[in-house]
Amino acid sequence: MVAVPAEVRPRGFAATERRDAWWVAPLLQGLMLAVFISYATWAALQNANYHWGGYLSPLYSPLITADWIPVPPSLLILLPPVLFRATCYYYRKAYYRSYFLDPPACAVGELRAGRYRGETAFPLVLQNLHRYLFYATFLYLPFLWSDVVHATRFGGSFGIGLGTLVILANTTALTFYSFSCHSARHLVGGGLDCFSRTAASRACHAAWKGASVLNARHMLFAWMSFFTVCSADLYVRLLASGVIHDVRLL
Ligand code: FES
Repeated sequence: MVAVPAEVRPRGFAATERRDAWWVAPLLQGLMLAVFISYATWAALQNANYHWGGYLSPLYSPLITADWIPVPPSLLILLPPVLFRATCYYYRKAYYRSYFLDPPACAVGELRAGRYRGETAFPLVLQNLHRYLFYATFLYLPFLWSDVVHATRFGGSFGIGLGTLVILANTTALTFYSFSCHSARHLVGGGLDCFSRTAASRACHAAWKGASVLNARHMLFAWMSFFTVCSADLYVRLLASGVIHDVRLL
């Protein structure tokens, strides 16, 4: 392979020597993000049709029913998860590429070349809050799993409907998304200098290896969980508004 001298390399926005369709991924992920964000924002502002029987929309969990709050409670509920996603390492890569074109893809000229400061200055330095948002949103998981249990209650008896499976799928996806987070991986083993010294450090090593397996699929879990959150809300919303009927499986 012959190295191309720097002075003859293409320069400027979107300049590249790549011959593949590098623009497809940023275009698709930008569109998908716009659809999911628009739907979730719309649904969170409705403050209605978010539960049906034992089913509760994940956008409204944990449920807050305080009339004195001047804004829809869902906005308060969603603030930590929204910030958690906004500062997620994967989503940062996605929206930096798709919306800021900074750069649009690897080895492709960026929109504002020459002013790179990384995430060391305001406001992007706030991305470093991600690990604390991980701690905050981790507390949501017990509520979401309790929603799965409630979704098996039909008039006081046990049952399984299609909505039960939809809510279960969403909680599972969110759990994998949380456990595959880079901060989770760092939390269980990132601070250790020696993995083999004690029984505790060996246990941390095992947990770190498990977190690493999940972490390698973090992008997949990020998309799956965003899709299932919106799908679960839509399913409950359509049931609550009488557009569809639940399918009882058991
Ligand atoms: S890196 Fe994506 S949720 Fe933490």
